[in-house]
Amino acid sequence: MPEPAARPRVHLTAPVPHEVAAALEPDFELVDSPEGADGILVALTARINEAYLERAGPQLRVVANYAVGVNNIDLEAAASRGVLVTNTPDVLTRATAELAVGLMVSLLRRITEGDRFIRRRAEWEFSLEFMLGASLDGKELLVVGPGRIGRETARLSEAFGARSSFAGRDADLPGLLGAADVVSLHVPLTDATRHLIDAQALEAMRSSAVLVNVARGPVVDERALLDALRAGTIAGAALDVFEREPEVEEGLLTLENVVMTPHLGSATRATRVAMGMLCVDALRAVLLEGRRPANAVG
Ligand code: GLV
Ligand code: GLV
Repeated sequence: MPEPAARPRVHLTAPVPHEVAAALEPDFELVDSPEGADGILVALTARINEAYLERAGPQLRVVANYAVGVNNIDLEAAASRGVLVTNTPDVLTRATAELAVGLMVSLLRRITEGDRFIRRRAEWEFSLEFMLGASLDGKELLVVGPGRIGRETARLSEAFGARSSFAGRDADLPGLLGAADVVSLHVPLTDATRHLIDAQALEAMRSSAVLVNVARGPVVDERALLDALRAGTIAGAALDVFEREPEVEEGLLTLENVVMTPHLGSATRATRVAMGMLCVDALRAVLLEGRRPANAVG
C-alpha cells in the first residue's frame, strides 16, 4: 500500500471558531509553530514581516489573513518570497457597515451615554428637553473610502434618511469634510492613509459634525482627535478601532460624546465563520489544487 500523502502543514496564529477548525482538520496538519509550515492562517493581531517569513522557511506558500485589511502583512516581503497572501472581502461588508451605522446612531441619539447615565443610578424623569440628540435623517454623510464597506455604509445610512457622498483617492478632502455632518472612514491603512485625519483635517470639519472610524486606528491621529473633541472643533466620535490598539488614548474615556467598541466590525458569529471558510478555501486552492484563489491580494 502506498503511504498516504502527507497533508500540508498549516499554522494558526490564533484560535479560530470550531466550525473553521473542523473544516481545516481533514485536509491539513495543524502545527504549533510557523517553522516548516506550508500555510499560515493569520489573525490581524499577528505581524507577518520579513523576520516572520524567514522563520517560517522557504516551503511557505500561502498566508491567509483572517481579515479584509492586510496592513499587518508585509506584502512586498511575501511577494519577493513567492508567498501568496489572501484576505476575506465581501463576507464582512454588511456586518462592518452595520456597525458603522449603529455607531453613528448610538452617538447621535446618545444611546451609550444614556446607558451609562442609567447605570450610574442618576436621578431622572422624562422631560421635554432632556438628553436631546440628533437624527441621522437629513444628515450629509461623507464616506471616506468608496470601497465595498464604504458603499454599503452609505446605502444602509440612506434607510435612515441620510444623504451620502464619497471621498476617493483624488478627492478635495478638506472641502468635502467641511460639507459633511457625519464623516465615516472606510480606507485601508497604508502609508498614504496613515493620519489622513489629522489636526488639519479635523479643523476642516464642521463643529457640529461627528467622526466614525471602523477602518483602522492609525488612519486617525488619536491625540489630535482628543484635542479636537476637547476644544469643540468637532462634536463627537464613534470609534471601533484605535491607533495603538488595544490601548486607547486615556482622555477619550472621560468624554460623553465618544462611543467606543473593541474592534467589532466583523464580529458576528456568522461573519467570522464565513471569513474563516474563505481562508480555508484559499489554503485548499493554493496547497491542494495549486491554483491562485480569487481573494489573493496584490
Ligand atoms: C477587520 O478589521 C478586518 O480587516 O477584517
Ligand atoms: C475593503 O476592502 C472593503 O471591503 O471596503
